[in-house]
Amino acid sequence: MNTKHLKQSMTFIAVIAALMVVYLAPAAFSQDDMTVVPADAFGILERPQVAFEHDAHNEKAAIDDCVTCHHGRTDDGLMDTENSSEGETCESCHPVNPVNGETPLMRAYHRQCIACHTTMAKGPVVCGECHRK
Ligand code: HEC
Ligand code: HEC
Ligand code: HEC
Ligand code: HEC
Repeated sequence: MNTKHLKQSMTFIAVIAALMVVYLAPAAFSQDDMTVVPADAFGILERPQVAFEHDAHNEKAAIDDCVTCHHGRTDDGLMDTENSSEGETCESCHPVNPVNGETPLMRAYHRQCIACHTTMAKGPVVCGECHRK
């Protein structure tokens, strides 16, 4: 291979690498980097967005089983407490304004977060402790 061809293929590789960075970037976001509960689905928020450091929270709270929060859906449309749905958003099964009787997104969060904090007598349970300015 002569120098010109080498340069051309290096440029080609650089372009491909740059494109891969652009296309793979969204996939690099994972729960380790999560500092707030995603709230885009709600549109304009009535309350300040809720802080939630995914990994740190779960470590402090000593929750080992992912299915505790990431339950799935059975074929009958019931809550599946055996099979984890980690990687799927809550919204994918709990729309903000459901048309088929599913638990709406806000209620899904409130029930899940507040129920556990109440049971364990630890963690925030009033509006302003979660929705902090
Ligand atoms: C244990 C934490 C927690 C508590 C306590 C809590 N919320 Fe929330 N709430 C959430 C989470 C999580 C969401 C979804 C993510 C977000 O909106 O930041 C949410 C979403 C909402 C939303 C829809 C999004 C928006 O801002 O428009 C409203 C409205 C809301 N909460 C109001 C309240 C009110 C009123 C109270 C008290 C009666 C309350 N919340 C108590 C965790 C909590
Ligand atoms: C205390 C509840 C809780 C526990 C326990 C938990 N997660 Fe999550 N996780 C969440 C919430 C809330 C989100 C944001 C969901 C959304 O975007 O709709 C999330 C998001 C994620 C995401 C990003 C994709 C997505 O669903 O938005 C991954 C991946 C994930 N969790 C993996 C895990 C794994 C693996 C475990 C077990 C080691 C785990 N989670 C345990 C609450 C929890
Ligand atoms: C694969 C689908 C699926 C995903 C993803 C999912 N859920 Fe559910 N969830 C269900 C089904 C099905 C039910 C039972 C029917 C219903 O209430 O909508 C349910 C029920 C619930 C309930 C009980 C409601 C009640 O009336 O007591 C809560 C709370 C809840 N989900 C919170 C969450 C949260 C928070 C997340 C994200 C961390 C989540 N769910 C992710 C399918 C799912
Ligand atoms: C299965 C139980 C459980 C669930 C579900 C749960 N939490 Fe917690 N959370 C805890 C416990 C236990 C603590 C107290 C940890 C400690 O300080 O010892 C806590 C503490 C917190 C705190 C205080 C600061 C911190 O990170 O320690 C915040 C904020 C919080 N939780 C938000 C949330 C939100 C938002 C959700 C719903 C998306 C949620 N939690 C769901 C058990 C839970």
